[in-house]
Amino acid sequence: MVVVSHDRALLADVAETVVSLDATPDGRPRLYGDGYAGYRERSQAERIQWEQEYAREQVEHAKLQDDLQAAQDRLISGWRPAKGSGKHRRATRAASTVGNVRRRQDALEAHALTVPEPPLTFKLPELSSRSSVTLVSAEKVTVDDRLTPPVSLEFSGGDRLVVTGPNGAGKSTLLNVLAQHIEPSTGTIHRRNDARIGFLQQESELPPKMRVGQLFESHVQRLVARNVISSRSTVDLQELGLLGSNELELRVGELSMGQQRRLELALVLASRPQVLLLDEPTNHLSIRLIDELTEALGATAAAVVLATHDRQLLRDTDHWPQLRLQEHVVKVS
Ligand SMILES: Nc1ncnc2c1ncn2[C@@H]1O[C@H](COP(=O)(O)OP(=O)(O)O)[C@@H](O)[C@H]1O
Ligand SMILES: [Mg+2]
Repeated sequence: MVVVSHDRALLADVAETVVSLDATPDGRPRLYGDGYAGYRERSQAERIQWEQEYAREQVEHAKLQDDLQAAQDRLISGWRPAKGSGKHRRATRAASTVGNVRRRQDALEAHALTVPEPPLTFKLPELSSRSSVTLVSAEKVTVDDRLTPPVSLEFSGGDRLVVTGPNGAGKSTLLNVLAQHIEPSTGTIHRRNDARIGFLQQESELPPKMRVGQLFESHVQRLVARNVISSRSTVDLQELGLLGSNELELRVGELSMGQQRRLELALVLASRPQVLLLDEPTNHLSIRLIDELTEALGATAAAVVLATHDRQLLRDTDHWPQLRLQEHVVKVS
C-alpha cells in the first residue's frame, strides 16, 4: 500500500518506509527505513549537515575572494612609478605579487560552490511579555448556538492552552471571542489595553491582486502608524523563514495554499503578539514547518492558545493544559 500524506500521525501509525521528495543537496529523493520516526530523525540530521556544509563552503569562498582582493590591491599599489634606488626591489616584488594574484585566482576557481542553498528554516521572532500580567481573560462567555457551555479563561505571558473538541464544538467561535472579533452573547471579555493579540484564523482571505512583499510591508506600516509596534521592533519578512525572496514578487493569488498559510502566519507575527491565537494552524503547512512551529511554540514567551484536531500536534502538546469543548447540542424547542 502506498499512502501520500502529510498527516504525521497517520504516517507514524502506518508507514514502514518513507519516500521523501523534500529538497536535498543533490536534488534526489530519499528513502528512509524505520517508519516515520526513522524518517524524522535522519532527515533532520541530514538537514543540519546540509546547513553546516553550506555555511562552511560560503565562508571558505568569501575568504578566498578576500585573499584575491587583497593580493590585487597589493599589486596595484606595487605598480606605482618606480623612483630612485629602490627600483630593482620594487620590480621583483611586483612580479611575485602578480604570481600571488594568479595563485589566488586559481584557488578561487578550484573551490567551486557545490552545496546548494538549503531551504528556509522557520524562525519565530522574539515575543516578549511581562509574564505575570493577565493579558486576556474571559468570564463565562457563551455565543448563542455556537458555544453553549460557558467558558472562563485567563492567560498571561508564557501560558499555554490547547482547545480540542469535535467539529462544530465551538473552537473557532471561542478563539474569535478571545480575539474580540465577535461579541459573546453572555459573559465578558477583558483585554489589557496594550496587549497585542495575533490571531491566525482557520480561514481568511487575502487580497489576491497584491504582491506578497508589498502586502506585508503595508501591513507593518499600518501597525507602526497605529502605534501597535514601534518602528524599531518591526519584523523582517525574510528573517521569518516562511517565504523566500522569489515569492515576495508574486501576487497573493499566485501562491499555493501552503504559501498563503505561511503568509497569513507572517502577517500575524508581524505585530510581535503577546498572545497567539492559532486556529488549526497546521492546515496546508508542510511537515517540516509544522515541526519547526511546534518547537517554537513550546519555547516562546508569548501566551499561546491553539485550536487543533491535528493528532500529532495534540501528541506533541499533550503536556499543555487542555480545554475540551463538547459536541455542540442544538436545542429543538
Ligand atoms: N458565522 C457563523 N454564524 C453562525 N453559526 C456559526 C458560524 N460559524 C460557525 N457557526 C456554528 O457554530 C458552531 C461552532 O462552530 P465552530 O466554532 O466553527 O466549531 P469548531 O471550530 O469547533 O469546528 C457550529 O454549530 C457552527 O455551525
Ligand atoms: Mg474551527
